[in-house]
Amino acid sequence: FGNIGILGTGSALPEMVLSNDDLAEIMDTSDEWIQTRTGIGQRHIATKETTVTLAVKAAKRAMEMAGITGDEIDLIIATTVTPDYRFPSVSCLVQREIRAAGVPCFDLSAACSGFIYAVSTAYKFLQTGMYRHVLVVSAETLSRLVDWSDRSTAVLFGDGAGAVVLGPKQGSGLLVEELGADGAGAQLIVSSDLNSRDGRYLSRMKVEEMEPDDPRQMLAEIEKNATPYMTMDGREVYKFTTTTVVQSIRRVLESAGLESADVSKFILHQANSRIIDAVAKRMKVPMEKFPMSIHDNANTSSSTVPILLDNLVRAGAMQSGERFILSGFGAGLTWASALLSW
Ligand code: ACO
Repeated sequence: FGNIGILGTGSALPEMVLSNDDLAEIMDTSDEWIQTRTGIGQRHIATKETTVTLAVKAAKRAMEMAGITGDEIDLIIATTVTPDYRFPSVSCLVQREIRAAGVPCFDLSAACSGFIYAVSTAYKFLQTGMYRHVLVVSAETLSRLVDWSDRSTAVLFGDGAGAVVLGPKQGSGLLVEELGADGAGAQLIVSSDLNSRDGRYLSRMKVEEMEPDDPRQMLAEIEKNATPYMTMDGREVYKFTTTTVVQSIRRVLESAGLESADVSKFILHQANSRIIDAVAKRMKVPMEKFPMSIHDNANTSSSTVPILLDNLVRAGAMQSGERFILSGFGAGLTWASALLSW
């Protein structure tokens, strides 16, 4: 096992809560539609908070649980698709606040799979003995990317942060992991850069698909389609996730020589309860093994998995030595699954 595990978890959510009924007042939707299609009941939206303030709060809680101070952290990895600045990185700003002066910091971008990519990366530094304690913090304010006039995406997302401190832990370990990506599906979920004054990435992808010969026609298309907001082909993403997640988890179990019955919990990225239902059914695993936080927090991208993990830990639901799966999927397209022992 390597005797390396999660020593502490933490999470933070913005104060403001937006219910489905609140959304129904500003767009053509309903609590009934949102609940039945997604399992989402409400979301937290950052008004006073930022990606970094949420990240710092979650990190401090994880460090407190781990009994670790800033000067004992050797590396900080932040995952986000919504950094407050293009630079400095979220991880550097977290480092300043937790007083871990001098340690390396980097941000990792793998959308909703980010946390699992980062845990996998952290383990490499820990397993080689290069570092003793690594802080992984996933923080997102997707509300800034959402087009609040597009009901097909606006109802799905929320803001929040989750963190873990990894370090020496008897009997714990990362048993098997799989990281994957398929850039061929890049156009299925896209967000341009709000700060770039060049919200044209989406349209460039569309134009590439069309391959027009006339450059003027191409520019006209770019102008027409430019948007600074997130866009998503929900149905295609749904199809990708329900098949890819099942295959990825199966491969992880197979390489560990285990069956799904040998795993106590499947902690999946919280994008839609229907996706989780579908995965459970295809794997023939009872729903009780798939904990959820989607109802209260909606989809907070890379932070859903560590937030849910923190909820479980604080509820006393994680038992020493139990085997659990973490699995994420999202824009890129990316996916990642890991089998760990607590
Ligand atoms: N309220 C009411 N009606 C709505 C809403 C809404 N908020 N949104 C869409 N509709 C309507 C549509 O207009 C459509 O109406 P029509 O039939 O008259 O055209 C109807 O509801 C059905 O729309 P669909 O898109 O077919 O609905 P679907 O059942 O596919 O659910 C959803 C949409 C929830 C987005 C689903 O496709 C999904 O969850 N996809 C996966 C999303 C995901 O997992 N993303 C994760 C990655 S995110 C990341 O990485 C950042």
